[in-house]
Amino acid sequence: MTPDITAFFDEATNTISYLLRDPESTACAVIDSVLDFDYASGRTDTRSADAIVAFIRENQLTLEWVLETHVHADHLSAAPYIQQELGGKIGIGDRITVVQHTFGKVFNEGTQFQRDGSQFDQLFAEGDTFQIGALTGRVLHTPGHTPACLTYVIGDAAFVGDTLFMPDFGTARCDFPGGSAADLFDSVQKILSLPDDTRIFVGHDYMAPGREEYAWETTVGAQKALNIHVGAGRSRADFVALREARDATLAMPRLIIPSLQVNMRAGRMPEPDDNGISYLKVPLNGL
Ligand SMILES: [Fe+2]
Repeated sequence: MTPDITAFFDEATNTISYLLRDPESTACAVIDSVLDFDYASGRTDTRSADAIVAFIRENQLTLEWVLETHVHADHLSAAPYIQQELGGKIGIGDRITVVQHTFGKVFNEGTQFQRDGSQFDQLFAEGDTFQIGALTGRVLHTPGHTPACLTYVIGDAAFVGDTLFMPDFGTARCDFPGGSAADLFDSVQKILSLPDDTRIFVGHDYMAPGREEYAWETTVGAQKALNIHVGAGRSRADFVALREARDATLAMPRLIIPSLQVNMRAGRMPEPDDNGISYLKVPLNGL
């Protein structure tokens, strides 16, 4: 089972969105879409999402799933916009409820903000399966970067979100609320237990020093041998020390405050005020 995969790179947030198609039918899925957002003006734009929508229309595909690997902290999700254009079910990990509780508190959300994941159409747990035409997707719960992170294994492809990055960049930070370097190490072992020739598609690429092009596709075998954080048999204790030391030096992602408020609502904006405009909050010294 070899799905056809098309990548869409968003240079503003270094995010890769994927369109996955079943070669035997018209069925397809979108993974980790981006809603463009200009923080200074508070304006959203659907340019990036429209490129994916146009691709699906041009190829006369049927969108079955709009999947999220996790609640992203660095870009807004375009899942509701894509769903409104093309249909499909929005899916995320069932531990989203933990993330909603955490950030519901940080943003002092009222009771109208449901913390039960009901904003999503499908909540996936470890081992769940789903269909994209004739392809079967399988869900791995891979926490660490966030408590709700998933890896979607579809045919010979694994969409790992922000667990592993390209081998020369390593792994994702684990210092957001609910993150855990030890959990990330265990999740990575789960991914690395897939067959060596499994194709790995990463959620971001930051063009590691020495490279001149962005890259997003690698394999389990390459990660095991070469990943600068977890490759060559690095121990759990060594990894945790390395990850935590590095995380202590990292600034917050530029769009974390808007991203969390929108993405914990499945990519929808907060309820508009009585003037019809949605507002985002900035918790002063609260994050
Ligand atoms: Fe992330």
